[in-house]
Parts: sequence; structure tokens; C-alpha cells
Amino acid sequence: MKKQDIVRLTHLKVITNTGDILSKWVNVCKSSDLKKGEMLDYDHEDKKILLANLNGKVYATDRICTHADADLSTGILTEDGVTCPLHLSTFNLKTGAPENLPAETSLKIYNVKIEQNEIYIEVD
Ligand code: FES
Repeated sequence: MKKQDIVRLTHLKVITNTGDILSKWVNVCKSSDLKKGEMLDYDHEDKKILLANLNGKVYATDRICTHADADLSTGILTEDGVTCPLHLSTFNLKTGAPENLPAETSLKIYNVKIEQNEIYIEVD
């Protein structure tokens, strides 16, 4: 392995003895790239993910509204969560649960960690 091959470790996979991948941490961006009150979109394989910085805490959820095909990164971030731009359901960022109709299904949420000023999310 050359020195430049180990400059940055961005994925950690946990693989069972049956070959199943349990999860992996993916480096999304620097924490300075997501300031308080900001959201950003991030795609990983087939996943469309929303990251939001609410009062200094970073949350990650699925980005597509569970009611219809709306991109929540174009919605509104408030103390209550993220509000869908299409029919205005608001999703709690901690739980992914919708707080009001018409959405009835929760968003998937992802674990987030920040290490050495880099934001990571845990995907499966
Ligand atoms: S598409 Fe989001 S509430 Fe309808």
C-alpha cells in the first residue's frame, strides 16, 4: 500500500461471517460546510439524504418526502423540523416522524457523528 492510499479513511464496513454488511460510516463533508440553520443534500448509492444543522446539532434523514416526490432540502428548516415545500408536512428531525398531515409515514433517520471537523453518517 502506498502512502497516498491511506491519507483518508472514509468508509468503515462491518461485515458478518455470512458476508452481510451491517453498516458503514460515510464522510459527507466538513462541519464548516453545514452552518447553523442550513441544509444540504447528499446522495449515497441509491439513497437521497438530507443533512440539517438545527441549532448546532446535525441530523440526517431521507430527503424525499414520504407523502409524494418532493425534495425536502428545498423545504423550510425551523425549530420544529423540516417542512416539505409541496404540501407543508413538517418532519421531526430527531425521529423522522411527520408532525402534521398529509404525510403519515416517518422519514428514515441516520446516525451522525462528527470527528476532526468532518461529518459522517451511518448507512446500511
Ligand atoms: S409531498 Fe411532502 S407533504 Fe406532500
